[in-house]
Amino acid sequence: MNGDLTRRHGDTERGPVIATSFPLPDEALGLLGEVGTVAGPHGWRDALGEAAALLCLLTDTVDAALLESAPRLRIVANAVVGFNHVDVAACRARGIVVTNTPDVLTAATAELAWALLLAAVRRLPQAERSLRAGEFHGWGFWDYLGDGLEGRTLGIYGMGRIGRAVARRAGGFGMRVIYHSRTPLPADEERALDAERVSFGDLLARGDVISLHAPLTPETRHAFGRDALARMRPGSVLVNTARGPLVDEAALADALRDGPLAAAGLDVYEHEPAVHPGLLELPNVVLLPHIGSATRGTRTAMAMLAARNVHAVLSGHPPLTPI
Ligand code: DGY
Repeated sequence: MNGDLTRRHGDTERGPVIATSFPLPDEALGLLGEVGTVAGPHGWRDALGEAAALLCLLTDTVDAALLESAPRLRIVANAVVGFNHVDVAACRARGIVVTNTPDVLTAATAELAWALLLAAVRRLPQAERSLRAGEFHGWGFWDYLGDGLEGRTLGIYGMGRIGRAVARRAGGFGMRVIYHSRTPLPADEERALDAERVSFGDLLARGDVISLHAPLTPETRHAFGRDALARMRPGSVLVNTARGPLVDEAALADALRDGPLAAAGLDVYEHEPAVHPGLLELPNVVLLPHIGSATRGTRTAMAMLAARNVHAVLSGHPPLTPI
């Protein structure tokens, strides 16, 4: 540990306690070892009473009760980009810095959105299941038909970093891009992406595929409820790699069974890890276990960014990626 760090009341002999709710790579442990002592992931909640820093994930609710049990906390380094599980206002009120991990997971998540989109549109899971079941008896002219993408319209709901990365990849598939976002893109970026900003109603009416990339807030919760789903194009496809509660899963199951949707691709769920039983029994929805950012390189980069934020704050510097 560096000797030049300001020692605070409550810091242990070996510097401030850094609680982590998940296993960290050696590189991150090395970095954190320069500014304190890492506790966890086993028993990390027990370390909160002493902890000056917490590295946590989307499965850890950081609310007033947790903060109450962590009176010395100076930073919550959320090692994912979404932060709907962190009570940011309560942290701020206590002077606790909150950080997240933007940028480092943008490409991986955009790639997974495209993987889901392609899988849903071309019905890949159904075709694969059929082959494994011994039903592939040779090439069939009319077998396993899905839809194409060229010339069709990709609608993006939420044009932040990941939405834009998804839009950038649309040109390669010959799709036109429309988007609905609270904030318009700067004109030059809109031009570069060849993307048109539209109202929510137009997004629903014009998108052949709609991909969700908005954060979960009180305004976006159930944005894709029964009414919105009913206004989507007949035969359209919904992809969600953002947050499950953007979509009303019961209504989605109905829209996939009775129309207007042809298919959906989901990586996130309303009540993770539960998946609505109505979705589980449908063949036209591709279901993944929240793996948007799950590449080795990306997860390492996320852990490192969280560790760097802790290192900065405990060394008396500003955080790299504050919320
Ligand atoms: C996030 O970062 O918010 C994702 O959901 C996990 O990659």
